[in-house]
Parts: sequence; structure tokens; C-alpha cells
Amino acid sequence: MHLPQITELLRQHRSIRRFTDQAIDPVLLNDLITAGQSASTSSYIQAVSVVQVNDAGLRNQFAELAGGQKYVQTAAEFLVFCADLNRNSQRASRVAGEALDFAWTEQFVTAVVDTALFAQNVVISAEANGLGCCYIGGIRNNPQRVTELLALPDLVFPVFGLCLGYPDQSPERKPRLPLTTVLHKDRYQSALEFAAEIDGYDAHVRDYYERRSQGKLTMTWSEQMSKQAQTQTREFMQEYLKTQGFMHK
Ligand SMILES: Cc1cc2nc3c(=O)[nH]c(=O)nc-3n(C[C@H](O)[C@H](O)[C@H](O)COP(=O)(O)O)c2cc1C
Repeated sequence: MHLPQITELLRQHRSIRRFTDQAIDPVLLNDLITAGQSASTSSYIQAVSVVQVNDAGLRNQFAELAGGQKYVQTAAEFLVFCADLNRNSQRASRVAGEALDFAWTEQFVTAVVDTALFAQNVVISAEANGLGCCYIGGIRNNPQRVTELLALPDLVFPVFGLCLGYPDQSPERKPRLPLTTVLHKDRYQSALEFAAEIDGYDAHVRDYYERRSQGKLTMTWSEQMSKQAQTQTREFMQEYLKTQGFMHK
């Protein structure tokens, strides 16, 4: 079957972590952000703001707080995608003539979903234009510091960063779970029912990591998940979000 070009493009995705020096035309960058804005948005909330980080000193600080990720410094562009209910709160309060806070947990969820959809539109559009991208969730290692560095007000949460630039590498595609394990028919099917398929996938992932690391890294997907499940993960997040004004209700 001949797949439409866009589907083929999506299947070719891989994160890019090494970039050439070539700059991104500002007109193209604006087009990418406009593509992001074109994504669906829950109840029309449009709860997304993007901060373009140009300053080299700031970039260094982001690279460091993300755990020493050098490509944050070297990418042509580094964007921070924020779930932003501050604008909504301001405008709603102005119309209502009283302070309206947007502090429901559901509103937080919709703002984060909006942010992800917006960003993925940017990524697809960027890849269609020959650019490479890498999301940087590492900025959530220290959301308070990001909040200070970017002067984020209440009800603005930095969800992730994004490195963008012209690729200086062509990595192998990273294998995904078998389709049968993610596409459920009429009822949810537990991973127990797909043990053999996931065992096969694990072997495939081990080969992938061994090839990518010239034999230095041997890990299956299940082993990676086991390690993650046993690692404390950004335990400050709930407190941080409440301090930022989110999820009081
Ligand atoms: C929200 C999000 C945050 C991520 N954060 C990082 C990151 O901090 N550093 C990094 O190198 N890759 C990061 N990634 C990239 C993932 O590691 C990558 O997408 C995954 O391993 C699959 O590889 P692929 O994108 O090449 O197919 C992130 C991806 C997402 C969706």
C-alpha cells in the first residue's frame, strides 16, 4: 500500500541531538509556530505560550539544569513550551469584573494536552521542512529555576523544551511496541496477553541499543521501565504546580 507522504514522514521520525551551524530562517520559525497554533485546542482555550531562548548564557543554564544536555546549547533554536492559563485567567477576570483563577485540575490537564498537541504540530512541520528536533523534558528537573529564568507568572508551567536545527546525524529509527499491544479491540487487553510479543520486542530493543552504543549498552524496553519504576521521579512536582497556582481544586 502506498502511504500518503505525511504518514511516511511521521514513520521516519527520530530525535536529533546533533545539529549543523545552519540557522533557521525566522520566517520558517514563525510558520512552524503558526502550524502549532493550528492544532485542536480543548474548548478553544489556546492555553500555550512558547518562549524562544536566544541568549547564550540562558541556553547554558538550560543545558545544565536539564542534566548536561549539550544540544540545548548547540541547536539553532531552543523553545520552551508552556501550559499557559495565565492569559485565560487575566482575560476572563477582566470580562467578569472579578478574579477568576483557572485552578481546577481538569483545566491543568487540558492546558498540558493543548501544549503537547501544539508542540507536536511544530515538530511535524519542522521535520517536513528538513529540520530535526529533540524534546527536552529535562527542564522539569528544576521547574522552579525555569520559572525564575523565564519570569513565568502564576498559571504558567514549562512542560518541555524543544531543540530545533538542521540535522548533523542520521540515527536509526527507535523501535516501537508491536501494533497488537497498543491497538485494543472492543475491550482493554492486558500486557499479560501479549507476553510473547513483548518478549520479542524486548529482544529487538536490546539489539537496537547494542548497535547504537557499539555494544556498550544492553537493555530491553522492559528492563528500562523497571529501572524507571524504581527511580524517584521529580517528587517536587505536585508542590511546584500548586505554588504556580495550578490544581487547587
Ligand atoms: C516530552 C518528552 C520529553 C523528552 N525529553 C528528552 C530529554 O530531556 N532529552 C533527550 O535527549 N530526549 C528527550 N526526549 C526524546 C525521547 O527520548 C525520544 O523521543 C524517545 O526515546 C524515542 O526516540 P525517537 O524520538 O528517536 O523515536 C523526550 C521526548 C518527549 C516526548
